[in-house]
Amino acid sequence: MDDDLLELRRMLEAAERVVVFTGAGISTESGIPDFRSPGGVWTRMKPIYFQEFVASESARVESWRRKFESDPVMRAAAPNRGHRAVAALVDRGKVSHVVTQNIDGLHQASGIPDHQVIELHGNATYAHCLDCQKRFELDAIRPVFEATLKPPRCDECGGLVKSATVSFGQPMPPAAMIRAEEAILACDLCLVAGSSLVVYPAAGFPELAKRQGAVLAIVNREPTDMDPIADLVLHREIGATLGEVVGNN
Ligand code: APR
Ligand code: ZN
Repeated sequence: MDDDLLELRRMLEAAERVVVFTGAGISTESGIPDFRSPGGVWTRMKPIYFQEFVASESARVESWRRKFESDPVMRAAAPNRGHRAVAALVDRGKVSHVVTQNIDGLHQASGIPDHQVIELHGNATYAHCLDCQKRFELDAIRPVFEATLKPPRCDECGGLVKSATVSFGQPMPPAAMIRAEEAILACDLCLVAGSSLVVYPAAGFPELAKRQGAVLAIVNREPTDMDPIADLVLHREIGATLGEVVGNN
């Protein structure tokens, strides 16, 4: 094991209360494209902002078309070696929480209890009404949408129905933000895995960890904006790196 991996293993052994902060890069080895790598989602299409979704029926149709187009890949995805390494650290009582920007549910699928996964950008596995928050299952929405090409509306209150993810311009989920801040303020090591760290307020959490005195380690293929303030930076593949350091397969 080379020095970088030994250093990350040493940091993990010395830490008592780790927060793992993840982005789309931990799920690419499960077949889910990230956003800003070559070929990533935002290199192929423009984000639909929340205000557009609310204001324009055609934006809602496009948003739902994209959703159902990408859904098979997300449903087929299984946790990979990187997810399993994080789950092993949670299992050992080393990690208090995983703060994730991901919407794929793969941390929970890897066996991490729901209460230890904090989803900053919501979850793509269901939808809800923007007014009364009623929950809608995607399997119920899909056939009607595909038959009518009409975006779904709430059958309770007539409100707009949207995937339970947080779009650009949409308010962040208050409870998740509070829980993430509490976890970050209490951690002694923040391990970032698979994020370009360019989207705020989420990217503010690794910064906050460093500011409050925690060690900051980053595992990411490309350089990130926060490399200069990190205590350790590994520009490597997450699955192999975390799998080897944590010693899981
Ligand atoms: N191993 C290591 N790093 C990887 C791997 C991998 N197998 N695959 C991808 N990466 C790295 C890429 O180099 C990239 O820097 O993961 C990073 C993913 O960055 P982004 O695509 O920007 O994803 P993320 O940081 O999660 O984006 C944040 O932006 O569009 C919004 O809401 C969306 O939650 C998302 C947010
Ligand atoms: Zn409603």
